[in-house]
Amino acid sequence: MNAPLGLVPAPDLAALTAALGSLAAAFDIRWVEECTSTNSALLDAPPGNDGRVHVLVATRQSAGRGRRGRQWLAWPGASLTFSVLWRFAPGMPVPAGLSLAVGLALARALEKLGLDAVTLKWPNDVLARGAKLSGILVEVLPERGGALTAVIGIGLNLRLPADAAIPGQGGGVTDLAHELGEVPARETLLAAILSELYPMLNAYGSTGFGLLREAWEQRNAFANLPVRVSGEGSDLSGLCLGVDEEGALLVRAPEGTHRVYAGDVSVRLAP
Ligand code: BTN
Repeated sequence: MNAPLGLVPAPDLAALTAALGSLAAAFDIRWVEECTSTNSALLDAPPGNDGRVHVLVATRQSAGRGRRGRQWLAWPGASLTFSVLWRFAPGMPVPAGLSLAVGLALARALEKLGLDAVTLKWPNDVLARGAKLSGILVEVLPERGGALTAVIGIGLNLRLPADAAIPGQGGGVTDLAHELGEVPARETLLAAILSELYPMLNAYGSTGFGLLREAWEQRNAFANLPVRVSGEGSDLSGLCLGVDEEGALLVRAPEGTHRVYAGDVSVRLAP
């Protein structure tokens, strides 16, 4: 399935640094041609804490991972794939709303790049005109001294092959080539995303999800629509009321309102 390396140009790190501007010093960015999974690489060998935010970008992943044990499929140049290792201050509560905050940062970055109709599918897909454009995989490293470290993996579809078959995407998939006509340089995209992610994660780390909730709700793909939640335990059907202060999904069912926490669950529109 993977074409030989070399079809995708080497990254222009100087352009990336220039696009990040004054924020460049906050990051340590490593861009490799290939690895198994950028999330796995950071989880297996987390870089030491030098005060910077460590980012690993891979031009190609040989074993990219998605949520719920799925694969993140690879075609040359098809997607931008990277992970960010973020260290929260000690005492930070369990990051229930973290992937929602990351989705919001991604949505804002894409909107600034000119994308319309960006919505968020709880807990962590970014949609364009209802089809999946980007996925987020948040994983947490074992705590040390009460401080939490998260590895935040992002895959953004750039140019999917016409015959790409991606299982499990009810609303379909899309890519930036379709949504924007022209795909910005990967360095431009990465800088735009990191520039939104950095203040977003700082805000999340100090005040949690509560203050971000309204902005998330404005982009909720399933607001006031009937949904079915499946995964852990029994399935649940009801009306999507939005999210609470912690980022849990609120679903109104005949027997009452349920709070669904982002575990191994998936949400789709009810038929
Ligand atoms: C999903 O939609 O299920 C989440 C997909 C997350 C994919 C990204 S690509 C970069 C990082 N490394 C991985 O192995 N997965 C995430």
